[in-house]
Amino acid sequence: MEAPDFDLQSHSLHSDGELPAAQVVENAAQAGVRLLALSDHDTVDGVDEALAAGALRGVRVVPATEISAVDGVYEDLHVLGYGIDHRSALLGERLLDARQDRERRADGMATRLREVGFEIDPSPIDARRAAGKPVGRPHLAAAVLAHPANAERLREEGHADVSSFIAAYLIQGMRGYVARMHPTVGEAIGWIHDGAGVAVWAHPFWDVKDEQEVLAAIERYRDAGLDGVEVFYPSHTEEKTLLLADRCAELGLLATGSSDYHGPGHRLFSRFLAFELHGREPNLGPIAHGTLAAPARGDAGLCLWLTGLSGSGKSTVARLAAGELRDRGHPVELLDGDDVRQNLCAGLGFSREDRDANVRRIAYVADLLSRNGVITFVAAVSPYRGARDEARARMGERFVEVYVRASVAECERRDVKGLYELARAGEIESFTGVSDPYEEPLGPELTLESESESPQASAERLVQLVERRLSRPPAAGAGVAGG
Ligand code: ADX
Repeated sequence: MEAPDFDLQSHSLHSDGELPAAQVVENAAQAGVRLLALSDHDTVDGVDEALAAGALRGVRVVPATEISAVDGVYEDLHVLGYGIDHRSALLGERLLDARQDRERRADGMATRLREVGFEIDPSPIDARRAAGKPVGRPHLAAAVLAHPANAERLREEGHADVSSFIAAYLIQGMRGYVARMHPTVGEAIGWIHDGAGVAVWAHPFWDVKDEQEVLAAIERYRDAGLDGVEVFYPSHTEEKTLLLADRCAELGLLATGSSDYHGPGHRLFSRFLAFELHGREPNLGPIAHGTLAAPARGDAGLCLWLTGLSGSGKSTVARLAAGELRDRGHPVELLDGDDVRQNLCAGLGFSREDRDANVRRIAYVADLLSRNGVITFVAAVSPYRGARDEARARMGERFVEVYVRASVAECERRDVKGLYELARAGEIESFTGVSDPYEEPLGPELTLESESESPQASAERLVQLVERRLSRPPAAGAGVAGG
């Protein structure tokens, strides 16, 4: 297994990190991180700077944020949103509201502390506010501890440090405490999904200590739409990592990881790539592509991926179906292997590496098109299962694999381009079906029997499939937790 080169949480000055966003990216690059998320708390303000720095340093940056959410007694659970549309006005408003809610709560707790007779040194709190940083319970406690007028009482009550004071006054049931109500974990997941992102529960064991409780929460959050869990994390022991990894695999959730970098001087999170895989494979799903946000899922199109031998009829059927759908008013594009190889993939040959590169580029474009509502046909031999599965993982529910089936003997009989003859004569190397394998799809959404069915009939079946899919509401989590 390869050492990870991704790190899906980091914090900048825009929340509680020590460095400007661009410097965070720079340090990540130096540490060997190739896929990075800047995940500042309840804000996306650093994302554009990080994206620009990433482009210069060869680090793919995933737009992200870490939303603080409440769930019953837990009032600071963190939900990560990856691949979100960080320019979304709605998301911006929601995050602002969450930050203001936190401010209001801090003000409420300050008032209560004054009511029970403490003085509060306002300067460190004002300084944090002025720097746009959130004020939390540790800061309030520190402001009480710092005020000389409280010294005698604090001594009497035995509070020498922040934790002791928080435990006595600022936790549930104590006199200075004000609860947070909003957003709930479910709401945070919804915000992320509305922003076209992938929702991941950050470091579950940070807040919830009991293993069974964590497992039960994962299931509840999954039912609320959660797409993944941060399985790999510096403070997760091997036992906890395996527990989470197994549960994610069982539930089909993504398994992500991070070292939660806050800067080189941070007490706990000062180093990139500081998490262990403990022998497990991460499952980053669409996050792995480091792509910018897709538009909201409601608008999603489809990718009809036609695979099959050369001469099986992929292009013919795709052209007929695309034409028909266009006539019916749908936006349609066709990415045909031969066309693509003259343009986007000029220069690529037919080695395994080149074919994989070809298919990956086609999948990239098909993803861009289909997520913008275009019905995208792909007609490419795409002989290797792994590459097709990668395309499926990228596009999730939008991906429809269509096997255009015809035997080698039949394709050879047709030999439309005369290539089988050349391949048999040894004049073309590694020709699919002759001197290179074709790996049949194992679970295609549709198989078109090109030997017994006319191209028109096959095209008609494709058109019907598209119309059926378009009239169906997208499945929960559609197009996201592909992995
Ligand atoms: S893929 O394998 O990378 O998906 P793609 O669909 O783009 O292939 O291109 C396949 C077309 O290239 C075939 O239809 C055929 O016309 C031509 N071709 C030339 N050499 C080969 C080869 N060695 N194997 C398969 N197709 C080839």
